[in-house]
Amino acid sequence: ASVRRHAFVVKEAPYTRLCSTKNILTVNGQFPGPTLYARKGDTIIVDVHNKGNRNITIHWHGVKQPRNPWSDGPEYITQCPIQPGAKFSQKIILSTEEGTLWWHAHSEWDRATVYGALVVYPKKGTHYPFSKPHAEFPLILGEWWKEDIEKLYTESLKFGGDPNISDALTINGQPGDLYPCSKPDTFKLMVEHGKTYLLRLINSGIQDILFFSIANHSLTIVGSDASYTKPFVTNYIAISPGQTIDFLLTADQDPDHHYYMGAKVYAAAPNPFDNTTTTALLHYGNFTPSNCPPFSPYLPPYNDTNSSVSFTGRLRSLADDSHSAVDVPLNITDSLFFTLSINTFPCHQNDSCQGPNGSRLAASVNNVSFVTPTVKNILQAYYYHANGVFGDRFPDFPETVFDFTAADLPLYLETPKSGTEVKVLEYNSTVEIVFQGTNLVAGDYHPMHLHGYSFYVVGWGFGNFDKDKDPLNYNLVDPPLQNTIAVPINGWTTVRFKAGNPGVWFMHCHLDRHMSWGMTMAFIVKNGKSPDDQILPPPPDMPPC
Ligand code: C2O
Ligand code: CU
Repeated sequence: ASVRRHAFVVKEAPYTRLCSTKNILTVNGQFPGPTLYARKGDTIIVDVHNKGNRNITIHWHGVKQPRNPWSDGPEYITQCPIQPGAKFSQKIILSTEEGTLWWHAHSEWDRATVYGALVVYPKKGTHYPFSKPHAEFPLILGEWWKEDIEKLYTESLKFGGDPNISDALTINGQPGDLYPCSKPDTFKLMVEHGKTYLLRLINSGIQDILFFSIANHSLTIVGSDASYTKPFVTNYIAISPGQTIDFLLTADQDPDHHYYMGAKVYAAAPNPFDNTTTTALLHYGNFTPSNCPPFSPYLPPYNDTNSSVSFTGRLRSLADDSHSAVDVPLNITDSLFFTLSINTFPCHQNDSCQGPNGSRLAASVNNVSFVTPTVKNILQAYYYHANGVFGDRFPDFPETVFDFTAADLPLYLETPKSGTEVKVLEYNSTVEIVFQGTNLVAGDYHPMHLHGYSFYVVGWGFGNFDKDKDPLNYNLVDPPLQNTIAVPINGWTTVRFKAGNPGVWFMHCHLDRHMSWGMTMAFIVKNGKSPDDQILPPPPDMPPC
C-alpha cells in the first residue's frame, strides 16, 4: 500500500454556464474538482488550504476512515471548519473500499460546487470481477444554480421554505446542449466501436434522485458505493444523492450515429422541481457522425416512483469470496427504529416564513430536529470530555407511535423537539436500523447516509414497517453493501452493520435541505478494549474553533 499526497486549494473561480458568469467555490480552480486515484488499502494525504473567504470542510464520502474520525470532515461534528487562510492536512485511510467514491465540502451547501471523484482500484496483483475495460471515466451528475449558493442556503433557512430549484442539471459540470448557451458546455465521451468501458456514475446533486440513461445502449451494473454487485443489465439507472453506480458500456451500436446520455429528476413529493434534462454526447471516434440529431435516451417519467425503487431494489452484493464476502450481522444487539419526518416550527419573529400556514419547515429523526453545534465540535468534546456540547439521549423510539404514512395526520404531531443528541453504541455491537418515512407535512424519499461505515440494505417496502411480517422477507444472503440508501416515499428501509469503527459518525439525509432542517443525528461508537480498537490520537493541526 502506498501513501499519496495532494494539495487542495479551496478558492473562488469564475465559471460561465447558461449564458452568465459567476464566482463559485472550487478546489484548485477546477469544477468539478480533481479526481483522486488510489488503490485499495492506500492512504491519501490531502493538504487542504482555504484560500476562499468562508469557512470550509471536506468530507471523503464513503471512506470508512478506520479509527480516524478526525479527517472525516462534517463541520462541527468531527472538526471545526478550516477558516479562510488556514490549512488542514487530512488523512484518508482506505481499507475495504474498492470502486467509486467521491469527496465533497461538508459545510453549509458548499458541496453544490465543491466535489470530485475518488477512484479506488484493486490492490496490485488483484483484478476487477469482470473483464478489464478498454478505458474508464467518472461521470458526475450535479446541479447548477444561477443564484449564489450561500444565498440559496441562508434564504432557505431564514424563510423556512423549500429552496429555489436548480436552473440546470449537469454531467461533469456541464449542462449540455438542450440548455440555452450550452453547446460548448457539453461533455463528450469518445468510444471505439466494439470496446467496453467502465463508467463511474456519481450523484453529487444536493436536491434530487436522478434517472440516467444512454440512448440505444444497455448498461451492465457492476458496483455501487465502492462495493461490487452481481452484474445486471438495465436501460436506465436511478441514483440518489451521495450514491455511486459503476456500470459497463459496450460500444456496440451504429457508429455512424451519435447518442445522448441524459439525466433528469425523479420527484416524489408535490414540490416544484427542476424539470430539465442534462445531456452529454457519446460518439464513436473513428467515424464522423451524420448530420442527424443525436438519438435521445429513454428516461422514466419524473414521478415514476416504481422505476426509482425497482432499480435500487435490484442491487445485490456480488457475494464472491475473493472480492466481497458477505458478513451480514445475524444476531442484533441494537435494534433501532428511526422515523424520518418533515415537520414545522413556528416562524422566527419578523421573518415571513414560507412553510405551510406561515410556519418554517423543519425535519427530524425520531422527532428530534438536530441542532448542529456552532462553537465546538462533537468529536473533540467527546475525546476531551468537554460538557455541554451534546447530549447522549437520542431517543430510541418515537414517543408517539402513529400511523406513519397515513394521508391526514393530526397537526399536533408536526412540531419536533430540537437538540444535539447522539446515540452511543458499544464497540462491535451489531446494529439494525429500520428507517420509517412519515407523511407528516408531506411524504418524501430520504437518501440516508452513514459516515464511518457501509451497511447492508436487508429490506424495504412501502407503508408502515410491520415488525412481525417484514423481517421474514429480509435478504440476509446477498444484500447490497452501501453507504447511502434512499428510503422510499411513505415507506421504510432496514439496514444492518457491525459497529467496529470507534469514533463519532454523522448520519443524515443526503438532501441538503432536509439535512439543514435537522434530519441528522450522530453515533458515538465506543473504543474496544485492545489499543488497536481505539480512536487514533488527533493530528496536531486540527482546525481550532
Ligand atoms: Cu456525502 Cu455527510 O455526506
Ligand atoms: Cu430527506
